[in-house]
Amino acid sequence: MTISIIYHTRFGNNALIADLLSDTLESKGHGVSIHPISEAHPSEIPASDLYIIGSPTQIGTLPIRVGRFLRRLKIPSGSRFAVYTTHAEPGSGAPGKITSTMEAHGAESVAKPLMLAVKDLKGPLEDEWESKVTKWIETL
Ligand SMILES: Cc1cc2nc3c(=O)[nH]c(=O)nc-3n(C[C@H](O)[C@H](O)[C@H](O)COP(=O)(O)O)c2cc1C
Repeated sequence: MTISIIYHTRFGNNALIADLLSDTLESKGHGVSIHPISEAHPSEIPASDLYIIGSPTQIGTLPIRVGRFLRRLKIPSGSRFAVYTTHAEPGSGAPGKITSTMEAHGAESVAKPLMLAVKDLKGPLEDEWESKVTKWIETL
């Protein structure tokens, strides 16, 4: 399967998750490309069998630039996607925002969002985050 990982990060935690996802999925034989939102343009994202979207939570919800990037994506209706997010406090609205934005493109969620905590504002990620990521991959 071809997989595009599209993520945003400010302090690097979402990049760590993207890298582990990419390494693990590639080791299973998938073709993976990674697209940090700070460096990518929505029109450059290749058509893929699965889009994985990752983002931090800011002010309780999705950072504005992530929402703007996702709204500008050009993906075929019926595309499949999965969501991961990070948060410092419970109750993040980011997974729901990503899901509704992708569904507005006619895309379908394939997995329950993976929501990981950071121990402090800038990280590090919660204990055992790697095993949560590898377990989540099995649900995709
Ligand atoms: C300006 C700002 C606002 C934030 N607001 C929230 C928030 O409302 N709720 C929350 O759970 N985390 C909040 N955080 C913590 C971020 O979610 C955390 O820094 C992020 O998940 C780390 O991911 P990253 O290293 O990929 O940037 C905020 C962080 C920043 C910088």
